Amino acid sequence: MATEGRSALLQLVEPALTYLSGYEAALEQGWSPNNVRDVSGEQLAAIRADAAAFIGSLLSQTGTVTLPDGTEIPKLPSRLRWLWDGEFCGQIGLRWQPGTDDLPSHVLGHIGYAVVPWKRRRGYATEALRRMLDVARSVGLNLLEITADKGNVPSCKVIEANGGRFVEEFVQPRYGEDVRLRYVIDLVAAADGGRPR
Ligand SMILES: CC(C)(COP(=O)(O)OP(=O)(O)OC[C@H]1O[C@@H](n2cnc3c(N)ncnc32)[C@H](O)[C@@H]1OP(=O)(O)O)[C@@H](O)C(=O)NCCC(=O)NCCS
Repeated sequence: MATEGRSALLQLVEPALTYLSGYEAALEQGWSPNNVRDVSGEQLAAIRADAAAFIGSLLSQTGTVTLPDGTEIPKLPSRLRWLWDGEFCGQIGLRWQPGTDDLPSHVLGHIGYAVVPWKRRRGYATEALRRMLDVARSVGLNLLEITADKGNVPSCKVIEANGGRFVEEFVQPRYGEDVRLRYVIDLVAAADGGRPR
């Protein structure tokens, strides 16, 4: 099936117990929804301890998140969605600071995403980001920042296909010495047909 046809099958669903077995199976195969820290083991333990509480923690708008260096920081407001085509395909999440397009320096972009290896190259990440741009607009954002590891060609393509404009290379020491690429998407221009200003 062509990529366009496949991505029409894609739904963005709120995490729920109904979809959890596919998510759990992906974790069991070593997939991590967090791209900077492998959380597969700790999430499997949490699911097995209390599946409903695990879903609640994903959706919670309070609490903390753990950075790769172990620092615990307050969670920002967020919207988390799972990619679903009848099976679990991956995750996309939006986080933001109310009232501003700015992010704290330790946050690597407003949106992060990961597709399980066996559902890649079907256009799912590109389509998921396209749909999350509407969610970003709905929470009041005008300008979105997304980062990709330097050399992550698929992720750069996903961002550029959604109007992403490359801004700069940077290193965020809290995440090690990796060089990352910062992009912005002008959500007002993107609503006008995806042409960045
Ligand atoms: C990056 C990632 C989300 C892309 O997911 P995906 O659903 O396969 O992406 P798409 O199918 O929408 O493909 C986007 C583009 O990348 C290309 N692409 C995908 N995988 C590729 C690969 N391994 N090598 C080269 N190009 C690739 C696709 O052909 C497509 O290009 P096109 O628009 O020119 O046709 C997925 O590879 C992934 O989960 N990687 C690990 C986590 C990660 O890097 N997340 C991003 C952090 S910023």
